[in-house]
Amino acid sequence: MFMSVAAGPSLEVLPSLEAVAIRGATLLAEALLDPQRPPSGLATGRTMLPLYGALRPLLLADRRFEPSAWRSFNLDEYVGLAPTDCRSFAGYMAAQLGDPLGLAPGRLALPDGLAPDPALEAERYRQALLQAGLGLQLLGLGNNGHVGFNEPPCLPQARCRWVELSAETRRQNAAGFGGDPGAVPPLAITLGLAEILGAQELLLVVTGAAKAQVLRRVLEEPPSGELPASWLQGHGRWRVLCDRDAASALS
Ligand code: GLP
Repeated sequence: MFMSVAAGPSLEVLPSLEAVAIRGATLLAEALLDPQRPPSGLATGRTMLPLYGALRPLLLADRRFEPSAWRSFNLDEYVGLAPTDCRSFAGYMAAQLGDPLGLAPGRLALPDGLAPDPALEAERYRQALLQAGLGLQLLGLGNNGHVGFNEPPCLPQARCRWVELSAETRRQNAAGFGGDPGAVPPLAITLGLAEILGAQELLLVVTGAAKAQVLRRVLEEPPSGELPASWLQGHGRWRVLCDRDAASALS
């Protein structure tokens, strides 16, 4: 089902989480396989697990897929975790895409969580990304309305930087750390809304009833720093994919 909401994203409400995964994977595969497009922006989180699960066979079955030509930039990384740590976002991406697709080392770019100076690392990452450009940016949604790790309050001019994670986000992500929010690193490096909004196209993927209220606010309330994802409303090419549960609070 296609709907258009006041602020103008193209909204697709699909019958199930599986349908969202297949649709999202198909859109992402087309972006990844188009040699004319700049690198894609990738995201982590539980929402993306079924999507990446659907993406792998799509890519492996496509004759255009060339692992050595891969180039992508992830949204964020925890400060203090090694890329080889399976709890890091680099570890997540290696397990989901890097290893199963045989991607050449360094092709899946993320901020370096072990860089001695996170501020310098954020600036290095920002420059690399600005040089390459961003085509399709895949995004998940935090329970508090964050995208990447742009925690509220956050303005659309915010750049790639190191940030302190909110207690709510550390609770949301505790599952990857033995269920203990205190074990979730307190700092992260994230693309800012400035770089995210600079992508050619945005694809926000939201599933599950727990995100229904925050999705309603992101789509139906005026943009505000208290809800960082609401700034996506200012992007001309923004698509939202969600399942019926996540769409259940939309008016
Ligand atoms: C995390 C990540 C985001 C992710 C979001 C949703 O903290 N920094 O990039 O999209 O929160 O996570 P989940 O899909 O697990 O709900």
